Amino acid sequence: MKTIFSGIQPSGTLTLGNYLGAMKHFVELQKENNCYFCIVDQHAITVPQDKSVLRKNIRSLAALYLAVGIDPEKSTLFIQSEVPAHAQLGWIMQCVSYIGELERMTQFKDKSEGKEAVSASLLTYPPLMAADILLYGTDIVPVGEDQKQHLELTRDLAERFNKKYNDIFTIPEVKIPKVGARIMSLTEPEKKMSKSNPNTKSFISMLDDEKQIIKKIKSAVTDSDNEVRYDKGEKPGVANLLSIYSLCSGVSIEELELKYRGKGYGEFKGDVAEVVVTTIKPIQERYYELIESEELDIILDQGAEKAQAAATKMLKKAERAMGLGRKR
Ligand code: TYM
Repeated sequence: MKTIFSGIQPSGTLTLGNYLGAMKHFVELQKENNCYFCIVDQHAITVPQDKSVLRKNIRSLAALYLAVGIDPEKSTLFIQSEVPAHAQLGWIMQCVSYIGELERMTQFKDKSEGKEAVSASLLTYPPLMAADILLYGTDIVPVGEDQKQHLELTRDLAERFNKKYNDIFTIPEVKIPKVGARIMSLTEPEKKMSKSNPNTKSFISMLDDEKQIIKKIKSAVTDSDNEVRYDKGEKPGVANLLSIYSLCSGVSIEELELKYRGKGYGEFKGDVAEVVVTTIKPIQERYYELIESEELDIILDQGAEKAQAAATKMLKKAERAMGLGRKR
């Protein structure tokens, strides 16, 4: 049995990209592993958030984790800010990070580019992420492709700490899915689908209704040669829709190419919309049962308690290794 950790930011409504690139795989992994899944609200405040919207998004993300099939009997589901050990180890990880390596992170460059006021936390985001992972002795971190660089840094920081102070951290492996690791925007298929994109047509939210999903997929940007073929470089829009179709239906991309040979984009897009709706609908039904329930609070309370107990042990080890406090 391995230990798994992953987190998602409550910085907007979960997208189909988050689901296909990450969450869907969490459900499989929990069957045979010791899993921790986190709503990383402290990461979300690295950019300004409206407090009532943030609170709503935290609860919504928690309900979605459960609605897609995260089972609180098997996995520990919790909110990052309710487990103070994360921020505490986050500080320690900042102390072993170099500014230069943090400035090289693509996400930092993208989010800070052209902005006048950039919060210090946007730069120190990766050491907090490393703390999230290292607190649990994590073996495997399932994420989409965009998190790969942060995982490499996590490994570097853990190795650096182990060498300098004491060999306490497990060096985590990253697990990126073969298909769907980078679901692209529906309006600009050379960019990733993102929940923080102000253009709502660019992404499918897990809470979009049937009409919105059909409309967004029908208007997704493709190309003019009307041939359903997987070619990421030449036909990024069509390749993206093929990946989405394949992941939602379980049919391979090769089979889909055959099925739509000689057929136009109209029929293809209609079918993509149908499989997406079929995937999302049962998740939404369960979501609406959970969102106002007391059950959700009980699960999150228990999750925070379990996580804090495990995390405190590692935090203490790290503090002792560095000479903090009085205990040897
Ligand atoms: P976040 O909230 O941006 O995304 C959550 C997960 O969804 C994946 N993802 C995608 N996968 C495929 N296609 C896309 N278009 C797409 N967009 C997002 C992400 O790769 C991620 O797996 N820094 C993290 C949150 C985090 C974390 C952690 C993750 C904080 N601490 C510790 C793992 C372990 C983030 O911003 O994810």
